[in-house]
Amino acid sequence: MCRGPLPVPGRGRLAAVSEDLDRTLPSDDDPTSLDALDRQQVSGVGDMDPERFRAAAHATVDAMADYLAHVRSAPVFPAVEPGSLRALFPASAPEAPEPVGAMLADVAALVQPNTTHWQHPGFFAYFSTTASGPGILGEMFVAALGANAMLWRTSPVATELEVVVVDWLRQALGLPAAFGGLVTDTASTSSLIALGAAREAAGVDAAAAGIGGRPDVPRLRVYASAEAHSSIEKACMTLGLGRASLVPVGTDDSLAMDPGELAGAIDADIEAGLRPIAIVATIGTTSSTAIDPVATIAAIAEDRGLWLHVDAAYGGAAAVVPDRRAPFAGWERADSIVVNPHKWLFTPFDASLLLSRRMPVIRDAFSLVPEYLRTLDRATPVLDFNEYTPTLGRRFRALKLWFVLRYFGLEGIRRRIDAHCAWATWLAGQVQADPDFEILAPVPFSTVCLRYRPRSLADRADEPEARADLDDLNERLLHAVNATGEVFLSHTRLRGRFAIRVAIGSLHTEERDVRRAWELLRTEAARLEP
Ligand SMILES: Cc1ncc(COP(=O)(O)O)c(C=O)c1O
Repeated sequence: MCRGPLPVPGRGRLAAVSEDLDRTLPSDDDPTSLDALDRQQVSGVGDMDPERFRAAAHATVDAMADYLAHVRSAPVFPAVEPGSLRALFPASAPEAPEPVGAMLADVAALVQPNTTHWQHPGFFAYFSTTASGPGILGEMFVAALGANAMLWRTSPVATELEVVVVDWLRQALGLPAAFGGLVTDTASTSSLIALGAAREAAGVDAAAAGIGGRPDVPRLRVYASAEAHSSIEKACMTLGLGRASLVPVGTDDSLAMDPGELAGAIDADIEAGLRPIAIVATIGTTSSTAIDPVATIAAIAEDRGLWLHVDAAYGGAAAVVPDRRAPFAGWERADSIVVNPHKWLFTPFDASLLLSRRMPVIRDAFSLVPEYLRTLDRATPVLDFNEYTPTLGRRFRALKLWFVLRYFGLEGIRRRIDAHCAWATWLAGQVQADPDFEILAPVPFSTVCLRYRPRSLADRADEPEARADLDDLNERLLHAVNATGEVFLSHTRLRGRFAIRVAIGSLHTEERDVRRAWELLRTEAARLEP
């Protein structure tokens, strides 16, 4: 038992510093003065005083609002060389406390100009996303609560609000009540969990016994289209299946999985004594947003008793719009589904929704409850989400989702997704109508894959030499357009051809920004020497 004041290391020295401060600090109790150092900060042993926090938080929010108000005027991608930024920052942490004002000044001087502006209206690279206003507010409150959502008892409302928000999203996506779920950090984790569950469902007791060096366990196999995201291959690496366990299935003209080839590959593997465990179907592939024929694939999975995981990390958001659900036919038959709110559901990174009809199998795959985590004296069983994930600690991500869903309402989310799809359709139409450009993949959602193919090269576009020239031309075009700083586009390769991707999905983007991207593509292309 501790009596009296707690011993504080170096107390004498701190008291001296404190006296010094009393002499040197302006006798300012003005909590809005950010330049002043907080007495508690310099000589105390506690956190920032709540009133100081209030003032600093107001100033920080002002800086954040200024950033968002002016981000349009910055170049989307900073003109910096790799390795050039490190030297801007001191090599070691400061020994003495610094005022928050100095940090905010450095954010403005060193951080803002040197980041890639994901919040820029001209950000069309990868999959465009938005840290929306309500999402940022929710994120701020998550930080203030500081709760670890690992157990029900470590924050009852974090667990129960997660259940509520997961179910709101399930309903919004038009999926049946048989799906439960959780919120993870990324689709990579969600798919890792799904494939971990598939491995468990295969009945080899992998969680307890592992699969290495076991003559009783045949080689396990996972099937996904050759266009599936690399996170699926990574999950196979991580789960001890090995990259060799992933069978890349060929695709058709629209870059969607060929179900005939899938069925053939599975049956050949069974014949050869291997053990197929899972199929991953993608709705909205990363490169071109292709849609695998999920209903047909579901029938193949059901026939052979395989786990079906649907990766709709980006495309899934479109299912919030009932009229846009055609590509999702059959996904309700999946064992698990991933949709990323941090992609096209306007939620700040990170938030990934993993839904499953087989939550108990996920728990079998990942549950481990040491004594110190066991909830004592509970007549009612509790839901401890850490039992469904490879990690113990979990962020309270449901809170920001709750803010986002309530602020926009499903109606507002549908309107925004519709607008993005309409702009993408407009852009695809422009590209198709231009004899010097071509569309390289169907546009089912809000991402357009295109390339510059000047008329002069059209006739021989498939000859090896012209192909290489076109690749080079489009790479140069991408650099030229990005160098304007007005937009940021990314690229991929489709059927061996270099493709420029325009991914529309930010709430900061307006129709005029999409028009500008197209104008830049055309003007910069006209300047290039073929
Ligand atoms: C289809 C698909 N799946 C998975 C991922 C991985 O997402 P995350 O970064 O959340 O792991 C992506 C990323 O773009 C994706 O496009």
